[in-house]
Amino acid sequence: MTSSIAPRETRIRRALDHLRNETTDEYDRITGFRATDFTDPVIAARERDLVFGRVPSIVAHSSELPKAGDFMTLQLPRNKVIIVRQRDGGSKVFVNLCRHRGALLEEQEKGRCRLFSCGYHRWSYDTNGELRTVTRGSTFGEIDRSRYGLIELPSQERHGFIWVVDDADATIDVADWLGPEMDDALSQYGLQDMVAFQAEGFDEPVNWKIMQDAFLDGYHIQYAHPNTAAKHVHTNVQAFEDWGRHCRFIAPRKTIDRWIDEDPGDLSLAKHVIETHFLMPNSTLLRQPDHFQLLTFRPHPKDPGWSRMEMRLIVPRCEVSGMDEGTWSKIWAKNWKILLAVLHEEDFPLLRGSQAGMESASAGPMLLGRNEVANHVFHRELHRLVSPADEADRAVDGADDRC
Ligand code: FES
Ligand SMILES: [Fe+2]
Repeated sequence: MTSSIAPRETRIRRALDHLRNETTDEYDRITGFRATDFTDPVIAARERDLVFGRVPSIVAHSSELPKAGDFMTLQLPRNKVIIVRQRDGGSKVFVNLCRHRGALLEEQEKGRCRLFSCGYHRWSYDTNGELRTVTRGSTFGEIDRSRYGLIELPSQERHGFIWVVDDADATIDVADWLGPEMDDALSQYGLQDMVAFQAEGFDEPVNWKIMQDAFLDGYHIQYAHPNTAAKHVHTNVQAFEDWGRHCRFIAPRKTIDRWIDEDPGDLSLAKHVIETHFLMPNSTLLRQPDHFQLLTFRPHPKDPGWSRMEMRLIVPRCEVSGMDEGTWSKIWAKNWKILLAVLHEEDFPLLRGSQAGMESASAGPMLLGRNEVANHVFHRELHRLVSPADEADRAVDGADDRC
């Protein structure tokens, strides 16, 4: 290794050393957790309010709403929402509810429109949220229309994603939430110039944290995915950066194996690793050698035993890929199909089983090992958000270990 080597290559070599030595980065302790963390409706309500109602999380890639009037609807943990592209190129997020008598304003999952028009008494709203039409206004009576536009949630577009805080009274500052390290990392990837080739949501009978945990976990690969992911990625080898709220880690792909015995010198090993970003509170962003995958996990608005996972395959646009449209589509469609098969045939059945197990009355305490670093970061930071300040500090100091 030379001193002129890029910092990323240094991190990759740290992962390679772990592979050579059969080691991995470790957290400073084992911690315990309880089954009720995944089943208790009181805990679930605190998470909805104190996590999703306070901090930014990703709801879409910007490319999913390319033109003015493009919209999508979503169930967030606290609000049903419409995300809509504005005429000025920006985006806004509104509560999907008519201000007359509260009908669900937009029923379609996706579409393009000039106005949102309520099916009950046909009030209509501009895509910027202004109340445009009160039908039979002369008999309805005078109202101050400026007070009855759609309710807007704080949202911001940054690094190619639309971020939202799920509370109309909150404020949003994505850069501040990401912190300098993660904001800088994301700013270098050009995600805003890429396109979401495919985005799909899956409603699963599994708590959102069980889902999120599984997609930060480098320990299960060879056991749960022996014939798929484990053929390509090493198990239990991670070179880690803990940035306090978010984290990032490098895991070696099996194509790196030649360099276990040989010295790669200054050669870039970037194509031999996957770099995972945990974006607190609920996203995993995987940087593959030539594309990204974003996985998000959202609690159900009522039931702790359900959540929605969304998966996005974010790739360089066809125009810059050097491929013709047919080849480009075929390659990414095949990639998507492989991802879906692993999810549906391998991860989801296991995770449904975890949720079923957690519903056992006498589940007993369970453990996160020192090798499960990203899971520690997730639970540590979650605890900081949902616990009163003094309790969170104690937990971070290790005084609240429950193993
Ligand atoms: S509830 Fe929407 S117009 Fe009456
Ligand atoms: Fe998995």
